[in-house]
Amino acid sequence: MQRIVVLNPKGGSGKTTIAINLASYLAARGDKPVLMDFDPQGSSVRWVKKRKPTQPLVHVIAAFEKDTRTTRAFQLRVPEYATHVIVDTPAALEARYLPEMTRDADKVIVPVLASDIDIHTCSNCIRDLLLVAKIRRDDNRIGVIANRIRRNTLIYQSLIRFLHTLHIPIVATIRDSQNYVRAAELGIGVHEMKSYVAQADVEQWLPLVDWLARPRAITPATIPQGAPPAVPAAGGSPPGGAAPPAGPAPSAAAGNADDAPAGTPAALAIA
Ligand SMILES: Nc1ncnc2c1ncn2[C@@H]1O[C@H](COP(=O)(O)OP(=O)(O)O)[C@@H](O)[C@H]1O
Ligand SMILES: [Mg+2]
Repeated sequence: MQRIVVLNPKGGSGKTTIAINLASYLAARGDKPVLMDFDPQGSSVRWVKKRKPTQPLVHVIAAFEKDTRTTRAFQLRVPEYATHVIVDTPAALEARYLPEMTRDADKVIVPVLASDIDIHTCSNCIRDLLLVAKIRRDDNRIGVIANRIRRNTLIYQSLIRFLHTLHIPIVATIRDSQNYVRAAELGIGVHEMKSYVAQADVEQWLPLVDWLARPRAITPATIPQGAPPAVPAAGGSPPGGAAPPAGPAPSAAAGNADDAPAGTPAALAIA
């Protein structure tokens, strides 16, 4: 089971949009995604409730609710059949909650809009992920999504330049598209829309899907003590089953691959 956390303390950057569309994509391809909604606004929960019984199942956990009748662990339990857990996080999430929120995350996706304010918040968010949550850059766990992009704008160019300086990969570039607004209203994702309507949007998800499928990089910190050196067996994977990423990380269509570089405390208590 893969755990994917979508995170950026800036409201409106596209966390819920990315989370629900990822869930929709995975469900449509036959996986069993679970959405875990930590945002008291409950947008992901509302989206799942709009889905019809005939649509591929997306299980949802209202993690923002405090249910005093059960333990927190019981409330947050993930069904055994789950292939992915996608965590939608609230705006204004404080840095001190990042270690807990990202502890078991295989991937952390940070959506960012092309605006001066958003670039600044994203910079702080990445810094906190590296320094407070102590995620290593070379773990290949953090990826940025440039969201609501209009390509030929100066602010888009500055966003790309800024992301290069962070040395965090841009794992997708998503255009500003009314299909995301319409899909959210209907309880579907762009992958469940008619292809003649949403093909341009669907294509932009390919680099993200590719990056998600990449295993975490083997770094000294992830190799158990006393383990043999990670020499790939002929035609197989190195010990631990995790292969280092082959070649450059997926690129946004802009051609920038891995060369590119307060919350609600009670609701977040996972224990
Ligand atoms: N790529 C996009 N194109 C058009 N609208 C978008 C896009 N991404 C997000 N939105 C819209 O922007 C608003 C905020 O997005 P949302 O995903 O709720 O942000 P967050 O969860 O970070 O607060 C929503 O109305 C959503 O439909
Ligand atoms: Mg949201």
